Amino acid sequence: MSINQVMVIGAGQMGAGIAQVFAQSGLKVKLNDMNEEALKKGIAGIEKRLQRAVDKGKLTADEQANAKERLTGSTDLNDASDCDLVIEAVVENMDVKTKVFQSLDEITPAHAILATNTSSLPITEIAASTSRPSQVIGMHFMNPVPVMKLVEIIRAIQTSDETYQTIEAMTEKLNKTPVEVNDFPGFAANRILMPMINEAIFALHEGVASVEDIDKVMKLGMNHPMGPLTLADFIGLDTCLYIMEVLHDGFGDSKYRPCPLLRQYVKAGWLGKKSGRGFYSYE
Ligand code: CAA
Ligand code: NAD
Repeated sequence: MSINQVMVIGAGQMGAGIAQVFAQSGLKVKLNDMNEEALKKGIAGIEKRLQRAVDKGKLTADEQANAKERLTGSTDLNDASDCDLVIEAVVENMDVKTKVFQSLDEITPAHAILATNTSSLPITEIAASTSRPSQVIGMHFMNPVPVMKLVEIIRAIQTSDETYQTIEAMTEKLNKTPVEVNDFPGFAANRILMPMINEAIFALHEGVASVEDIDKVMKLGMNHPMGPLTLADFIGLDTCLYIMEVLHDGFGDSKYRPCPLLRQYVKAGWLGKKSGRGFYSYE
């Protein structure tokens, strides 16, 4: 199946990065957000990153102009009516995601593939909310999308081989490396990463060490590029909490219980870098 026109829904940190990578790989992409301000911010971020790449000599002015031309903004989901592939990257909440998928099911052409960038929610349940479950799949990019090579491709039990192969080929076209993962809570990446982040928050909560020292242990002791608390702020503490809840509910095992301090931070609106405050201050 050939893919010419793509839409990415949600112009937050993930959606904007995904749209940028598609535009730079030669695909026409519409970036959609229900919030006009969020859309403007997402597009401004892409333009800034493209300009930085030109300044560093990593992109030519022609490549920059072509990428910008292939990218358009949208606040109307009906703009998906001519899309061959849609990737949803809205908030990590099942009700919100299934509503988006039900609308897309009505709006997009019958051949279109509907993918989700969910970090942890069951793809099988999202697929079942549409009339085309064999064309629904997880396409899980890592943050920051323009830099990270991995894409977890998650098969719902209904996903067809044709859909899988189309998304695998598209991932390679984006110059990313696909891994095939089955539909379990947190898939592979977050089943392994998020308990480590949650444990770092427990260590802070229990007074084992300071924020800075917990991060130093993992950066200098294990050569991680970011300490776990910096990484949690970078991902978004709301997203971290949603993922821990999915692991806890999905496996019914107390080892996945979210740290109370994480819940408290989210309740306070301290969501990390995107809100200006998390374990660190970004003001
Ligand atoms: N967006 C886009 N590009 C970014 C970026 C961002 N937010 N931050 C940094 N970059 C780019 C820079 O422009 C630079 O690119 P060039 O080399 O082309 O100039 C490159 O990344 C390196 O940047 P820096 O030298 O400024 O910084 P660094 O060497 O410290 O690297 C980093 C920054 C790549 C983010 C690194 O700290 C890192 O790898 N951190 C860990 C990231 C990680 O673990 N991601 C996975 C999160 S979990 C997830 O995504 C799954 C989920 O569902 C929650
Ligand atoms: P974000 O909060 O930065 O952005 C979400 C955007 O979606 C916002 O701009 C919001 O206005 C928009 N939105 C919400 N509902 C919408 C709707 N119905 N229609 C159109 N737009 C809508 O979130 P994010 O960090 O970019 O995460 C997005 C998704 O990607 C989540 O499912 C998350 O779990 C997943 N994810 C996040 C990371 C990460 O590190 N943050 C990594 C991989 C996957």
